[in-house]
Amino acid sequence: MTKMPKKKIVCVVGARPNFMKIAPIIRAMNNQQTVLDPYLVHTGQHYGADMKTSFFDQLNIPEPDVDLNVGSATHAVQTAEIMKRFEPVLDQDDFHAVLVVGDVNSTIACGMVAVKKNIPLIHVEAGLRCYDKTMPEEINRVLTDQISDLLFTTERSAHDNLIKEGISDSAIHFVGNVMVDTLLANVERAIPYQQTLLNVSDENASNIKEGEYSVLTLHRPATVDHPVYLKQTLETIVQVSKRIPIIFPVHPRTAKQIESLGLNNLLSSGNVISLPALGYLEILGLMKSAKFVMTDSGGLQEETTALGVPCLTLRPSTERPITVSEGTNTIVDIDPDQILSGVDNILETGGKSGRVPEYWDGHAAERIITILDQWVK
Ligand code: UD1
Repeated sequence: MTKMPKKKIVCVVGARPNFMKIAPIIRAMNNQQTVLDPYLVHTGQHYGADMKTSFFDQLNIPEPDVDLNVGSATHAVQTAEIMKRFEPVLDQDDFHAVLVVGDVNSTIACGMVAVKKNIPLIHVEAGLRCYDKTMPEEINRVLTDQISDLLFTTERSAHDNLIKEGISDSAIHFVGNVMVDTLLANVERAIPYQQTLLNVSDENASNIKEGEYSVLTLHRPATVDHPVYLKQTLETIVQVSKRIPIIFPVHPRTAKQIESLGLNNLLSSGNVISLPALGYLEILGLMKSAKFVMTDSGGLQEETTALGVPCLTLRPSTERPITVSEGTNTIVDIDPDQILSGVDNILETGGKSGRVPEYWDGHAAERIITILDQWVK
């Protein structure tokens, strides 16, 4: 019997949340009997030990075949630089398709390069919309979906959004959530929160009991790059911390802003334990044992729903509505009154327990690979 030749698929990652999404896809391409052969490109949008290497190591992602090393810059410069450096990669071999995940600058940059070279584009996590174009990710999502040939969705609302935007029904496949694949595959390996706290020499940290703390993450430019909003939000956080201790792994963007605005003293006036940006297994361990999470991250909204941990989203809207309608998420924006009443509600009632959405079952990547395998033949 003649063996079907392998079809090389370029898989792109750039920023932290991409790593959790690509890990199960690469694993499924390698493990299932398929004609697919992954070729991993890291754009270098996120770099260094805390933002890149620890994720590759913890999630067993193979070393990228190519690292474009773009680093940080403005949106225009970063996007342009990724495009410039990605184009020659596509000339090196006979690639069958380019697969991009999520909504970061690397997603749209590599997507545009692919389609202009007539290489089919596959988008994993398509169709999510918050209809707020001040959010860079919303622009990346809409544009990537418009140029994609095959679109995989995490929730049914995404399908409706895509149809409204004129995408052909036959190109859309509801497969579930690859981020949850990674969560379920790793939840038993999560690093216990006590171990993560041991690394900080903060005397408050040793008193923190399981289920009796909150986790905070904050990195959206709309909040952290705006001095008034950032200060107001941190003031509210300090108030919350007087009711329940808060563990706060600080994203580099946020750390820079806190430093330059001199807000460190404000933070230390409350019961807030600041940590550097954490690896995947550390943050998973923190979330798993938390009373609740406060965040502006899309990924954490989904992960808390999968874990059944209440989440307060510090944004005016979400592109992941199923986390609110079925999961544990409540949108409170950065409005102090809404945040404080959200916290009160959780402390009094335990908060939303929710249910796990359809197909968030740990097998999304396998579904993707089964469909892809047929599609490339
Ligand atoms: C990016 C994504 C965002 C995603 C987030 C996850 C876009 C438009 N934004 O935002 O959707 O939720 O990643 O973290 O693609 N920095 C470092 N080390 C790094 C990377 C960045 O110190 O490895 C610092 C740099 O000072 C940089 C800043 O963080 O200027 C912001 O990084 P950038 O990748 O531009 O955006 P994020 O805020 O991380």
